[in-house]
Amino acid sequence: MLENANKDLQNIKIIRYTVTDSTNTRAREYAEKHSIDAPVVFIADGQTSGRGRRGRSFDSQTDAGLYISFLYKPKTQSLDVSKITAFAAVKVCRVLSRCAGADVGIKWVNDIYHNGKKLCGILTEGEFSLNGKGFDYVICGIGINIRKRKFSEELSEIATTLEDATGESVDKELLASELIAEFFSSSDTSELIREYKARSVLIGNDVEVHAISGEIYSARVIDISENAGLVVQTADGEVKELISAEVSVRKKSFSI
Ligand code: BTN
Repeated sequence: MLENANKDLQNIKIIRYTVTDSTNTRAREYAEKHSIDAPVVFIADGQTSGRGRRGRSFDSQTDAGLYISFLYKPKTQSLDVSKITAFAAVKVCRVLSRCAGADVGIKWVNDIYHNGKKLCGILTEGEFSLNGKGFDYVICGIGINIRKRKFSEELSEIATTLEDATGESVDKELLASELIAEFFSSSDTSELIREYKARSVLIGNDVEVHAISGEIYSARVIDISENAGLVVQTADGEVKELISAEVSVRKKSFSI
């Protein structure tokens, strides 16, 4: 993302769909057939199989949101998926504040929230090279709920839209072009982490940690680490840095 800072946005290839299954899936198919020398952006008006983290689906009703995936080859091979996702979250927040005046926060690691409800999700996927040289490519997929719509009963409790948040209808094309510019703009990584912390809706809150191992325990969130890990303290005083690949968290006051 940051390392591929591209000053000439007009040279970025953009592939558009009215409806497709998933822009992340389209990006992966593209990456398997082409060498990724320059970034490619995939945008759809609607998705029939929008994907979220942990095999969840992502509500992608046609013309109701921005469904966009960034495909690129990171220059710094040490970047991990957590950091890429965290930096993308900051960049989405910047664009939503600037273009829509939305007061948004980040729920570690990949969700953008407004007033306790999810407005946007990010799914980062990567392909490691077999010769041990880091990522062959990275796909960072971002779904922003823009227009008011009828969510399923389950989602209506936890999801919101930009229109609900701001009371205004925001131009999707403007959001897309601002997000593409912001995504490929260079930013200092310490500054991105600082901004991520400032926007965190979890710091200071009690959470339930769900480890992939099956272990579930309560903890208080005390910080975000320089690796974009969630730093928590358990009831017996132990401090742990959680990595997104290993755990998910639920804020205790509401289900996420
Ligand atoms: C999540 O909430 O867990 C992540 C949701 C990510 C949704 C976006 S929409 C564009 C891209 N295509 C997908 O299928 N998923 C991502």
